[in-house]
Amino acid sequence: MAFALITGASGGIGLSIARELAKQKIDLLLVARSTENLLKVKTELEENNKIKVEVFSVDLSLPGSAQSVAEWVERNSFPVNMLVNNAGYGVWGSVDKTPLNQLTNMMQLNMASLTEMCHLMLPELKKHGQSYIMNIASTAAYQAVPTLSTYAATKSYVLLFTRGLRRELINTPVSVTCVSPGATSTGFVDRAGMSDFLKDRAEKFSMKADDVAKVAVRGMFNKKAEVIPGLMNQITVLLTYFVPKRLTESIAEGLYKSKS
Ligand SMILES: NC(=O)c1ccc[n+]([C@@H]2O[C@H](COP(=O)([O-])OP(=O)(O)OC[C@H]3O[C@@H](n4cnc5c(N)ncnc54)[C@H](OP(=O)(O)O)[C@@H]3O)[C@@H](O)[C@H]2O)c1
Repeated sequence: MAFALITGASGGIGLSIARELAKQKIDLLLVARSTENLLKVKTELEENNKIKVEVFSVDLSLPGSAQSVAEWVERNSFPVNMLVNNAGYGVWGSVDKTPLNQLTNMMQLNMASLTEMCHLMLPELKKHGQSYIMNIASTAAYQAVPTLSTYAATKSYVLLFTRGLRRELINTPVSVTCVSPGATSTGFVDRAGMSDFLKDRAEKFSMKADDVAKVAVRGMFNKKAEVIPGLMNQITVLLTYFVPKRLTESIAEGLYKSKS
């Protein structure tokens, strides 16, 4: 049986997506940096679901890393009919005060590696009767977010790239879906370096990763172009189409201002 390849599958939303697909008896190829965490997930999912799980450790914020994933797939002749580009992170803070390498690594992971994974896996995905690509963006893709400016811009890229790719592949067996979660309880806020005040506030509005994953997987199998999990997130995104940009940007600026 063909595999689903998921990046960033050792924790957070990616792990929840892996669990959701495992419940449906889909074999999995899991990618992240931490070998230890990946092996724990492999044991859990194989034991609970009687499926095959293979893991590959790589830092996708490094140039050439997507190529190494594709080579691993090819070397092992893994058939792949699902690609979930989920690995990504945010860096919180003003552009001028953030070390440049943090911004460029994030851009490499969120945009370049995601694009490379699509490019490199498409020949394999096209071999199957029906295949799927799910790219994870964010509700931040729909508007500028001061102090998460670069992150929001990378997610805008993911959204537009994914919509374009979907149209390019419309007459092929590959269906392409962009999923844009809002705040979700994961390791995201810690990795972004947000203050405790912002973490507490984010927690109040957060969805559970398992709920996000359920909606995401359903949307992918229903061949949706865009999926925004959660009614509040859908309303927030809808407003960005009608409310003047300077207003949504100043609300976002206020939301992400730290008290400390
Ligand atoms: N949580 C939110 O509020 C939220 C909202 C909107 C969108 N999103 C998006 O959802 C996706 C998943 O985020 P999350 O919240 O689940 O974050 P998370 O809990 O921090 O999990 C991130 C996953 O990606 C892996 N990862 C991180 N950096 C990596 C790298 N350089 N190379 C390979 N794998 C890497 C991590 O494993 P290792 O550390 O072992 O590498 C982990 O498995 C991201 O694209 C994020 O932008 C999240």
